[in-house]
Amino acid sequence: MALLPIRLYPDPVLREKCSPVETFDEELRKLAGDMVDTMHAAPGIGLAAPQVGITKRLAVVDLSVGEDPEQILTLVNPKILDRDGTETDVEGCLSLPGITDKVPRPLQVRLRAFDVAGEEFELEADDWLARAICHEIDHLDGVLFVDYLRGLRKERARRLLKKLARQTEAAS
Ligand code: NI
Repeated sequence: MALLPIRLYPDPVLREKCSPVETFDEELRKLAGDMVDTMHAAPGIGLAAPQVGITKRLAVVDLSVGEDPEQILTLVNPKILDRDGTETDVEGCLSLPGITDKVPRPLQVRLRAFDVAGEEFELEADDWLARAICHEIDHLDGVLFVDYLRGLRKERARRLLKKLARQTEAAS
């Protein structure tokens, strides 16, 4: 078990488009395990590989934050097949500490992904699980939840992001 440093805004790795995982080896399993530990320690309900500096299409989600091992979801090369409905609710991100805002997301999604063993699976998710999955898949394309904000919310986020960027740079 290892905790990985979480990359914070404005780290440019957060804006990169990640490449598909092609090799399902021990290194991938270790990375996925370390990401789960890092997510739980944060604590958070999701973490994508670029948030730990790895530009691969890998993300982990656990709405139980370590309370229920059965809820840990590891998504390799995830792809949304279908989405239905919209719900707007509050979101945050481990790479954007101190910033939360309301973001519209699909109410339900159906997706296809691989597990760390290279086994393909399909999954249907709704509500918070759908939201968390969409948030993490966005990370794999360099998209952050603040990108969805408009108008005054966008202005507010812009101010908070500037402040966060100053803090991140001062700490590095
Ligand atoms: Ni995030």
